[in-house]
Amino acid sequence: MAFGSKEQLDQTLQTAPVTEPARQFFFVDECRKIVQELSEMKGRPLTACVNTFGCQMNAKDSEKLLGILKEIGYQESNSEDSDFVLYNTCTVREHANIRVYGRLGVLKNSKDKNPDMIIALCGCMMQESEVVDKIRKSYRHVDIIFGTYNIYKLAELLYRHFMEHSMQVEILDAAQEMVEDLPSLRKYPFKCGVNIMYGCNNFCSYCIVPYVRGRERSREPEDVLCEIRRLADDGVIEIMLLGQNVNSYAYGFPELLQKVCDIDGIKRIRFMTSHPKDLSDGLIRVIRDNPKIARHIHLPLQSGSSRILREMNRHYTKESYLELAEKIRSNIDGVAITTDLIVGFPGETEEDFQDTLDVVRKAAFDSAFTFLYSKRSGTRAAEMPDQIPKDIANERFNRLLALVTETASHQTLRFVGQDAEVLVEEVNAKDPSFLTGRLSTNHVVHFEGPNDLIGKMVNVHLDEAKGFYYMGTMI
Ligand code: SAH
Ligand code: SF4
Ligand code: F3S
Repeated sequence: MAFGSKEQLDQTLQTAPVTEPARQFFFVDECRKIVQELSEMKGRPLTACVNTFGCQMNAKDSEKLLGILKEIGYQESNSEDSDFVLYNTCTVREHANIRVYGRLGVLKNSKDKNPDMIIALCGCMMQESEVVDKIRKSYRHVDIIFGTYNIYKLAELLYRHFMEHSMQVEILDAAQEMVEDLPSLRKYPFKCGVNIMYGCNNFCSYCIVPYVRGRERSREPEDVLCEIRRLADDGVIEIMLLGQNVNSYAYGFPELLQKVCDIDGIKRIRFMTSHPKDLSDGLIRVIRDNPKIARHIHLPLQSGSSRILREMNRHYTKESYLELAEKIRSNIDGVAITTDLIVGFPGETEEDFQDTLDVVRKAAFDSAFTFLYSKRSGTRAAEMPDQIPKDIANERFNRLLALVTETASHQTLRFVGQDAEVLVEEVNAKDPSFLTGRLSTNHVVHFEGPNDLIGKMVNVHLDEAKGFYYMGTMI
């Protein structure tokens, strides 16, 4: 590429505003000029592809990153044959990392064919110094690397890359400021995640999230509400409040939920995730009294053994979890409880595992994500003796999965024959005369209907349960 120089960069840096987000809007403008020039040279629009790994936090971050890229002038694309490819990575289990390395290998071939292609990496995996060292050394075709604390700086880093044509790496050790109010490109026009807090203070002994996402930071309620009001004005009807543990929201989570309920236009409110240790009676009451709040609580159990839970640093026991699940079910009619489970935590015995199976039976989960324990270096559990051999863990995993599937499909039966409100999300992937949507309980429903219902709430009769989902008829 013929443009860009260190001198030009120095000059621009002198005129750039120092405060955020003004500074980023400035770099968005600068990048836009370059992208426009490039696109004229190539005689076609430039495309950008953002690939997201991991949880809802990353999905939300990706919407922000795509928003910035669109402002810069890139056209969104789902193909990795794009001019700009960004992986927003996850490192919660080792498997996630292996996938990223594998795909970076494939991207190398694409870049050989299109040398102007820009490859960027961000997200949780980049907060680990070994990862960044490895990429610097063995994946030289990567152009931009940033972490979880500075995603808002994408435009600045891209601009630097355009000027210097060298690998840009900026990883911060901790959050410096919460920069909001940058553009965001929603995946769905009618539903949207909203961060209420970032980071995590819980240090569950197996988990890397507190190390890569830092300490808890709660956004001011008024900022959150303001964002939601804007979204509602823009046609959003379902909101998902996001935090690693929304129950420790610094300004009171039940109070916040109540205020979100009061916003006209918002018809359904979800939240993720609730830690069982501090789910309050106040929260249960607010959910019970507000039909707008989804009849769904994701309440990660991790293990059913009180001994393992103590080793995991979870601050609840088998008994207290079951009591809580019972309290939720008896107070909130028709609520669905879903969970996360880890198999093969260090020192887990067959007896411990039986406790997990026991809780799955008793709590009657509506669905559960099951994970094989993955050792994450830097966490306390990684140093624990008695790591469980793979074959034993796999065998337990299969037994657990079978039970979870059985329990969930049994639970699904309980709504058959009822009418329920469905938020229609998309055309059915297999049969385009069908639509797919979700119940308040988060169960998926397929039914016949016209495409213009997408994004609307409709009433559907639940004819038949098929494992985790329903077949229905619109009424
Ligand atoms: N903040 C959420 C969880 C975020 S991580 C909570 O506490 O509920 C999502 C899930 O990944 C966790 O609930 C856990 O089940 C799983 N997980 C986290 N670390 C893991 C590890 N080292 N091995 C296997 N699963 C893990
Ligand atoms: Fe990880 Fe525990 Fe924090 Fe969830 S609460 S993100 S499992 S440390
Ligand atoms: Fe993964 Fe980071 Fe989420 S490690 S699970 S993307 S917070």
